[in-house]
Amino acid sequence: MLWKTTLLQFAALSSVHANTIATSNHARSDQLRWGACDVDDPSLQCANLTVPMDYTDPDSDATIQLHLLKVPAVRTPKKGSILFNFGGPGLEARHSLAGLSKRILALTGGDYDLIAHDPRGVAKTFTASCFNTSEERMAGPYAAMSSVADPEDRLALSTLWGASLALGNACYDYPSFQDKGPNLGTVFTARDLMQIVDAVEGDGLLRYWGLSYGTALGATVAAMFPDRIDRMILDSVVNPHQFYNYYDTEIWADADMVFSSFIKECLKAPEHCGFSHRNSTAFDIEKDIYNMIDSLKTEALAAGDQVVDSAIVRSFIRFSLYSPSSYSYLSRALDLLLSNNAAGFMEIYNENLAEGFLATVAQDESAFAIPCSDKIAPQQTFTELGEIFTELNGESRLLGSSGSGLAMICANWRFQAKERYTGNFESKTKHPLLVIGNRYDSATALRCAQNVTASFEDSVLVEHGGFGHGSWSQGSACTSKIIRSYFAEGTLPEYGTICEPDYGPFEPKTIDDVLKDIGFMDGE
Ligand SMILES: *[C@@H]1O[C@H](CO)[C@@H](O)[C@H](O)[C@H]1NC(C)=O
Ligand SMILES: *[C@@H]1O[C@H](CO)[C@@H](O)[C@H](O)[C@H]1NC(C)=O
Ligand SMILES: *[C@@H]1O[C@H](CO)[C@@H](O)[C@H](O)[C@H]1NC(C)=O
Ligand SMILES: *[C@@H]1O[C@H](CO)[C@@H](O)[C@H](O)[C@H]1NC(C)=O
Repeated sequence: MLWKTTLLQFAALSSVHANTIATSNHARSDQLRWGACDVDDPSLQCANLTVPMDYTDPDSDATIQLHLLKVPAVRTPKKGSILFNFGGPGLEARHSLAGLSKRILALTGGDYDLIAHDPRGVAKTFTASCFNTSEERMAGPYAAMSSVADPEDRLALSTLWGASLALGNACYDYPSFQDKGPNLGTVFTARDLMQIVDAVEGDGLLRYWGLSYGTALGATVAAMFPDRIDRMILDSVVNPHQFYNYYDTEIWADADMVFSSFIKECLKAPEHCGFSHRNSTAFDIEKDIYNMIDSLKTEALAAGDQVVDSAIVRSFIRFSLYSPSSYSYLSRALDLLLSNNAAGFMEIYNENLAEGFLATVAQDESAFAIPCSDKIAPQQTFTELGEIFTELNGESRLLGSSGSGLAMICANWRFQAKERYTGNFESKTKHPLLVIGNRYDSATALRCAQNVTASFEDSVLVEHGGFGHGSWSQGSACTSKIIRSYFAEGTLPEYGTICEPDYGPFEPKTIDDVLKDIGFMDGE
C-alpha cells in the first residue's frame, strides 16, 4: 500500500482563460431531488445531478451523474449553500463532509446548507480507473512505486521512471479510460460546481470552502467566474500556477522547518512526547533522526515480514505531520526507531497509518489522472526532470523527494484535459476571497497562500499560527470567528492578520474544544 503514500499529492490538482466557452447555464441540469443517503446519519440528504461529460462539445449528449451530499442548515431563514472540496484529488468529498458535519456547521454558523460532491474521476463518479481489479492494480506498475527517490539515487529514480511510463501506458491502453482521460480536468470540475450552483441557488452565486487540492479548484473557478463568487475560502493553499504549468515544488517549502518545530514543541510537552526521556536537545534529536534516515538508505531494517526503509519512515513522517493529533505517536515511533526498535516502529505505523489514513484513499487512478491531465510543464524527459528532482529536494530535504513520483507520472501521462486554465489568476471577484495559510504546514507552504492572495484583488490572507494541513487541524478562536463572520456578513479581517491557536500541538485537544468554549457548538 505504500505507493499511495508517495503519490497522493494534495491531501491536501483545451485551455480556458475566463473567456473561451460560455456554457455557464447549462440546460441539461436535472431538477434535484434530495433523498436518503447510503450513510447512517439520517440528517444527511443526497441527490444526483446530471451534467455534460464534455463541456467543449455542445453537440454531444453524453452526460455523467454527480453524486451530492447535503448537511441541511440548522437555522432559519436559510441563507443558501456552501460547497466544499477537501482535496486529494481522489478523496471522497461526500464522506469527508459527512464526518465533519458538526464541526463545519459550527464554523459556518448553521444557516447555510453544506454540500459536497465527489468530483469527476473520484469514487463512483466517472471513476478514473485503469485496471480491472485492485489485484491487477497492485501487481502492475504500482509494485515499483513505493520508493521515495532522492536526486542522487539513480537506481530508485530509474525504477520510478519505468513504473510511471508503464502506468501511463496502462491508462492509455485501458478501453474504458479513453472517454474519461480527457474529461477529468479541474476546469470541468469548476464548471460542475457552477452547475450545482445553478441547481440549488436562487441567486446563482457560489459560496465555497476549498482545502489543499480544493484551493487549486477554487482559484480556477474564481478566475473563470469572478462575477459569480459570493464567498470563497482557500485554506491550505497550493500554488495554482505550478499546478497547471510546472511541477509542485513550492508546496514543500516549509516541511523541514515544520519538522524541526515539531521536535521543539514535543520537548515542551514531556508527558506526550516520545523524546523527552532522552535528555537531549531538539537540535541533537533532529540530527539523530536525519542520520537514522540516511543509514536506512544504505541498510534497511526488517520488522517481521515488513521492510523498514527510508521511504516508509519518511512517508510516515509526511502523513503524520498533517495533523497534531498524530504528533504524540509520531514522536514515540521515531524514538523507538532511534533505539533500533524497528518492530515497535512498525506496530505504531500499522496501527495508525496503514489502517487509518491510507485505507480511506480511493482505489482508483484519480489522484494523478486529475492533476496530470491539467499539467503542461516544460520538463518532460527523464533528463529534463533532473532539475525538478533537485528543486524538490532543495525545498525540503526531508520530504521534497516524495513529489518526484507524481512529477514522473505527469510527465508520462498521455491524456490532456479538453479544457485547461491558462490565465494568471489575476481577477477581481464579486466578493473578495478569504485565504488561510498555516504557519506550520508541511504539505502546503505559507508562501503558496501569499501567492494566490497577491493575484485575487482585495483578498486577505490570515496567517494561522498552527500546525498541520488545514486551519482546523489546530484550533483557534481567532481564526474560527473570522471564518464565521466571513460567511455571515462577508467581513474580511485586516490585512496582515495573524491568529494563534488556543492550545499546543501536543495537547490532547481538537478545534471542537475551542468551538465549544466560544459557544459555536450549540446544544452541547
Ligand atoms: C444516484 O445514482 C446512483 C447510481 O448512479 C444510485 O445508486 C443512487 O441511489 C442515486 N442517488 C439518489 C439520491 O438518487
Ligand atoms: C479486463 O477486462 C476486459 C473486459 O472484461 C478484458 O477484455 C481484459 O482482458 C481484462 N484485462 C486483464 C488484464 O485481465
Ligand atoms: C543530561 O545531560 C546533561 C548535559 O549533557 C548532563 O549534565 C546531565 O547530567 C544529564 N542528566 C541526566 C539525568 O542524564
Ligand atoms: C506565484 O507563483 C508563480 C509560480 O511559481 C510565480 O511565477 C509568481 O511570480 C508568483 N507570484 C507572486 C506574486 O509571488
